[in-house]
Amino acid sequence: MSASLATVSYLGATILFILCLGGLSNPETSRRGNLYGIVGMTIAVLATIFGPQVTAGGLPYIVGAMAVGAAIGLYAARIVKMTQMPELVALMHSLVGLAAMLVGYANFIDPAVSVGMSPAEKAIHEVEMYLGVLIGAVTFSGSVVAFGKLSGKISGKPVLLPGRHWLNLAGLLVVIWFGYRFVTAHTVADAMLPMIVMSLIALAFGVHMVMAIGGADMPVVVSMLNSYSGWAAAATGFMLSNDLLIVVGALVGSSGAILSYIMCAAMNRNFVSVIAGGFGTEGGAPAATGGGAQPAGEVVPISAVETAEMLRDAKNVIIVPGYGMAVAQAQHTVFEITKTLRERGVDVRFGIHPVAGRMPGHMNVLLAEAKVPYDIVFEMDELNEDFPDTDVAIVIGANDIVNPAAQEDPASPIAGMPVLEVWKAKTSIVMKRSMASGYAGVDNPLFYKDNNRMLFGDAKKMLDEVLVALKP
Ligand code: TAP
Repeated sequence: MSASLATVSYLGATILFILCLGGLSNPETSRRGNLYGIVGMTIAVLATIFGPQVTAGGLPYIVGAMAVGAAIGLYAARIVKMTQMPELVALMHSLVGLAAMLVGYANFIDPAVSVGMSPAEKAIHEVEMYLGVLIGAVTFSGSVVAFGKLSGKISGKPVLLPGRHWLNLAGLLVVIWFGYRFVTAHTVADAMLPMIVMSLIALAFGVHMVMAIGGADMPVVVSMLNSYSGWAAAATGFMLSNDLLIVVGALVGSSGAILSYIMCAAMNRNFVSVIAGGFGTEGGAPAATGGGAQPAGEVVPISAVETAEMLRDAKNVIIVPGYGMAVAQAQHTVFEITKTLRERGVDVRFGIHPVAGRMPGHMNVLLAEAKVPYDIVFEMDELNEDFPDTDVAIVIGANDIVNPAAQEDPASPIAGMPVLEVWKAKTSIVMKRSMASGYAGVDNPLFYKDNNRMLFGDAKKMLDEVLVALKP
C-alpha cells in the first residue's frame, strides 16, 4: 500500500471514529455508532499492516500476535458478565498503558529512530518518549490495581499513606529532575538510568493513586484511566509519528475525561477529591453506616399479587431500574410486564439515573437487550417533575438513586446527589431482597415513607409472580 493510500485510509478511519463517538451518545444511534467504530478500526488496522512502515518480513509476526490477541479478546468478551464489564475495561486499559511503555522503550533503545533529526527535533522526540512511558506506566499499574479492587482481589478500602500528597509531590519533582537528565544525556546508556527511575516512580504512583481511592469511586477511576489510556495512545502516536494514533488517543483521552466528570456530577463527587483519593467507602457496606440521621418508622410489605393489582389499576407508571435488576437479570420480565400493562392502556415509562447500576449506560444496555422501545425510556431530568402526577413508581433493585436523604439530609454522605424523586408518586413500590443498603452504604428513608411499599425478594422471581398475576 502506498503512503498516500495509507494516509487517506487513516483519514477515513478518523472520520469514522468521530462518527462512532457521536453515535454512541444516544441509545437509538448506538448500534450504528458501534458499526462505524468497527469499520474504522478494521480500516486502521489494515492500513497499518499493509502500510509503508511494515516490511514483508515483519508481517508474519504481526499477524501471529494479532491472532493470539484476538483469540484472548474474543474469549474474554464471551465469558464476561455484564456486571464484570468495568473489570474487563480496567484490564484492557492496563494493556494500552503497557503498550505505550514498551513502544517508548523500543523507540528509546533503537538508534535508527533519531538518525537525521535536528537537535531540536531530537529533544522534542525525547520528551515525547519520556512522557509516553510516564503516562503508560501510570495507566498500566493504576489499571491493574483498579482491576484488583473491582474484582475483589484487593480490598476496596482506601489505603492512605501518611503524607501521601507530599510523597506524590516528591515523586513528581524527582521525575522532572530525571526528565532533565534524560533529555541532556548524550548516549542511550547515560539516559537509561533516568528512564528506569522514572518508570519505577510512575508505576509506584499508579499503584498509590488507585490504592488511595475507595471502592465506591472505582468506576469513576476506571473512566479516568480510560482517559489516561487515550493520552498514552496519543503519546505513542507522537513517538511513532502516527497521526491516527494521535487523533484517536486524543478522542479517547478527552471523552474519558468528560465521562469521568459527568459521573462525578451524577454522584455528587468532587472530581479533584476523587482523584486525590480517600473519599470512597467500601462497596456494599451494611445499612445505616451513613453519617446522617437514621430514618424512623416501619416499612409496609406488599405481595406480588397486590403489586399486580395496583399496577393494573394505575393510569400511569414509572419504572426505575437499578443494579438489582442487572443482578437478577430481570429486564426481560420487566418488558413482559410493560407490554401487558400497555396493552391494558396503562402509560408506562422508564426513568434512568445517570449512574444506575455499575457502569455508564448500564440500564440502557439491559433495556435495549430486552427490546424495550427507546421512546419510553427517559433520562432522570426528563421525567423527574412528573412523579407527583404518577400513580405508581416501581423501583426494581435500585436504592441509592432513589434515596430522598440526598435532598432531605444535609449530613448524609450522598447529600446533594441528584436522585429520582419516586416518593412523590401516589405510591412507590421498592423491589429488593432485604433492607440492605446499596453501593454507597447508606440507609434509605424512602422505605419508611407512608406511601411506600416493599416487595421483598429476588427481582426476577417477584416480577415473574407479578406477571402471572397480571395475566387474565
Ligand atoms: P444500589 O444503590 O447499589 O442498590 C442496588 C440494590 O439492589 C441493593 O440495595 C440490593 O438490595 C438490590 N438487589 C441486589 N440484588 C438484587 C436482586 N437479585 N433482586 C432484587 N434486588 C436486588 O444500586 P443503584 O440504585 O442502581 O445505584 C447505583 C450505585 O452505584 C450508586 O451509588 C452509584 O453512585 C454507584 N455507582 C454507579 C456507577 C455507574 S457509572 N453506574 C459508577 C460508580 C458508582 P438487597 O441486597 O436488599 O436485595
